[in-house]
Amino acid sequence: MTVTPLLQISKLSKSFGGVQAVSQVSFDLNEGELLGVIGPNGSGKTTLVNLISRFVKPSSGKVIYKGRPIHSLPAYKIVRLGIARTFQMVRPFYQLPAYKNMIIPLFSPRVKGLVGGKYGDRDAVALDLLEEVGFERDAHVAYKIAGALPQGYLKRLELAKAIALEPDLIILDELFSGLSLAEVASIVPIIEKLRLQGKTIIMIEHRLKELFKIADRIIVMNYGEKIADGPSSEVMEQDEVKNAYLGTE
Ligand SMILES: Nc1ncnc2c1ncn2[C@@H]1O[C@H](COP(=O)(O)OP(=O)(O)OP(=O)(O)O)[C@@H](O)[C@H]1O
Ligand SMILES: [Mg+2]
Repeated sequence: MTVTPLLQISKLSKSFGGVQAVSQVSFDLNEGELLGVIGPNGSGKTTLVNLISRFVKPSSGKVIYKGRPIHSLPAYKIVRLGIARTFQMVRPFYQLPAYKNMIIPLFSPRVKGLVGGKYGDRDAVALDLLEEVGFERDAHVAYKIAGALPQGYLKRLELAKAIALEPDLIILDELFSGLSLAEVASIVPIIEKLRLQGKTIIMIEHRLKELFKIADRIIVMNYGEKIADGPSSEVMEQDEVKNAYLGTE
């Protein structure tokens, strides 16, 4: 029996003027997989996420999700279909308390359309979700204004906003960047829990050591192209990958 991949990317390309940010990238992603995407700065990783979540329109190529082309849909429809992403640059409403930042996803049509009264009291749901990603309830961190929170909590807030959308596919763009080893270690179990819940995850990361511990598979990007795709232990052994990394360090 063949299983249709959750996501099928086919010859996806994006150029900005003369810059070929993403070039003819193809890959499949199966349900429940945790895919790591790595590559030097400027290699096209964020653009790839932007193309899937349709924050950026592809120049050419296809994105098929659950068997259906989505590359022509607007971003809000992609969210409704169950794809959520976090941003490399966190952009909360700095003047609002952390839990009030959860309003946007919790009032989205995606959440409204989900069954049950679970989302009845949205403030309570916001506080629960933030606790799930490590906002200690006893310390009342969720009530602090976002602008007063350190980077670690802002990254957790990003994650909570994505989880609130009850996505099937979660794309995390450098969730670990700017975090201490201890903070990363405390977020890893949250990601592992999402996997146990059956979520499919794409993680763009520069923190290779931490990523390799949890990823099933790694794609390596360089100058907009996919130069490797396979188990983490194998991709780093490839000469082209070594060169791409040595060239930037
Ligand atoms: N909106 C844009 N307009 C013009 N050029 C862009 C735009 N977005 C990205 N680029 C260019 O496309 C290339 C890929 O950028 P992208 O942000 O996707 O790389 P990245 O792999 O995410 O890098 P980093 O590791 O630094 O986050 C870069 O040359 C970048 O300058
Ligand atoms: Mg990026």
